[in-house]
Amino acid sequence: MATAAPTKSSSTSTKRSAAAKAEARDDDGRFKASSGGATPRRKAAGSQSSGTTVALVAGAAGLAVGLAANVARKFAVQAPTLLAGEWDEALKAEHDLTLKVFDALEATTEANTTKRATLLMNLKHMLAKHALEEENVIYPALREVGEIEAADELNRDHGYVKQYLYELSEMPKDSPLWIGKLRKFRTDIEQHMREEETDLFPKLKGLVSDEKSKELTSLMNKEGLKLA
Ligand SMILES: [Fe+2]
Ligand SMILES: [Fe+2]
Repeated sequence: MATAAPTKSSSTSTKRSAAAKAEARDDDGRFKASSGGATPRRKAAGSQSSGTTVALVAGAAGLAVGLAANVARKFAVQAPTLLAGEWDEALKAEHDLTLKVFDALEATTEANTTKRATLLMNLKHMLAKHALEEENVIYPALREVGEIEAADELNRDHGYVKQYLYELSEMPKDSPLWIGKLRKFRTDIEQHMREEETDLFPKLKGLVSDEKSKELTSLMNKEGLKLA
């Protein structure tokens, strides 16, 4: 009997050990603090899982709201172009808006460095969107009707628009040379706009069907929305 108890105890111990071996690790293969911790831990895992699901659903809902807001914002930015009518009228409306930003920039002084930087950023954005609309749709359509050299020349002008924007961004906004460069930029871009509005756009409009013109308007707005 003296040995029976230890034997029984040993057997229990062996069983415990086997049970411990069976349950000593959690789902990730890590040792648990105690065998009694298995159930609460699973509960905790279940609770964590439902918490993760809630967070994911909330995240997805937030993302959907964010995307919807972004689409709404894009349409708001593109609205003046969309509402202006066909592609040629829409591009003219963008020219007019661009010149208004030039007006505001020309009204600044060397003391208005922050205003100059902010307005220049607006101008960059407007011109980037405008260039995408023209370079991705209207200039290719011009080449399609045979105006290859003219389209290439307009495209080259856009390169110099970016050059002006770069130089005006780099130059200190309180430099006495800044306003002179801006005025030269305006003179050049106004000439470019005039060529488009009075010569090349009417020429293109006269050479394409109404259906094609509608297609150009739609394609142009799609390009604009990419950067709006
Ligand atoms: Fe242009
Ligand atoms: Fe233009």
